[in-house]
Amino acid sequence: MDWRISARWWELLSSITKMIVRKENPGDIEAIRHVNEMAFGGPSEADLVDALRRHGKVTISLVAEEDSQIVGHILFSPVTLEPGINAFAAVGLAPLAVLPQFQNQGIGSLLVVAGLEQCRAAGIDWVVVLGHPSYYPRFGFVPASRFGVKCVYNVSDETFMLLELREGIMKGHSGIVNYQPQFNEV
Ligand SMILES: CC(C)(COP(=O)(O)OP(=O)(O)OC[C@H]1O[C@@H](n2cnc3c(N)ncnc32)[C@H](O)[C@@H]1OP(=O)(O)O)[C@@H](O)C(=O)NCCC(=O)NCCS
Repeated sequence: MDWRISARWWELLSSITKMIVRKENPGDIEAIRHVNEMAFGGPSEADLVDALRRHGKVTISLVAEEDSQIVGHILFSPVTLEPGINAFAAVGLAPLAVLPQFQNQGIGSLLVVAGLEQCRAAGIDWVVVLGHPSYYPRFGFVPASRFGVKCVYNVSDETFMLLELREGIMKGHSGIVNYQPQFNEV
């Protein structure tokens, strides 16, 4: 499905469920930690979020809020393509987390669609994600290997995916994607 169509769908859904997606604010920090700890069953991703924030490496961070409770979170941070001229504005989507009791209700999708919209509005050229190969293709992600792009980490081709936010932007560009150093600590 075209993600712009799904954006309209989720907009409608969110208006029915009173779910809002908005940028994080300083008062959300503890709740964001809680969401990541619960979703991933440990502190690693929550620590990563805090470290990225501390180092000023957060491009976009959004929360899903229902009845004043933070139930989901998504973050995007800058990535680079090596070797390359790095004239790109590129980000990695990670982490994405929804509280276990709120999963499978469309909240993760709502966050991804809203996040990609924000990326596009911010002039981001492309987005990578390291994640479930059955989940992210619905938003338009395809294996990054199709562009000759690999992840700096040793991961299988199908789990490392890329979405061009400007069609054709990857033409003639290939290489290895590097995440922020804070990812090495997870
Ligand atoms: C992955 C996650 C963010 C999805 O959020 P969500 O709100 O449950 O997702 P949605 O309701 O939008 O979508 C549900 C779909 O996601 C799929 N899904 C959920 N967890 C999945 C997983 N671990 N692997 C593959 N697909 C998964 C469901 O099967 C469902 O698929 P369907 O629409 O074909 O039936 C959430 O399950 C979560 O926080 N998981 C733990 C943390 C995690 O794994 N984060 C992602 C790292 S890449």
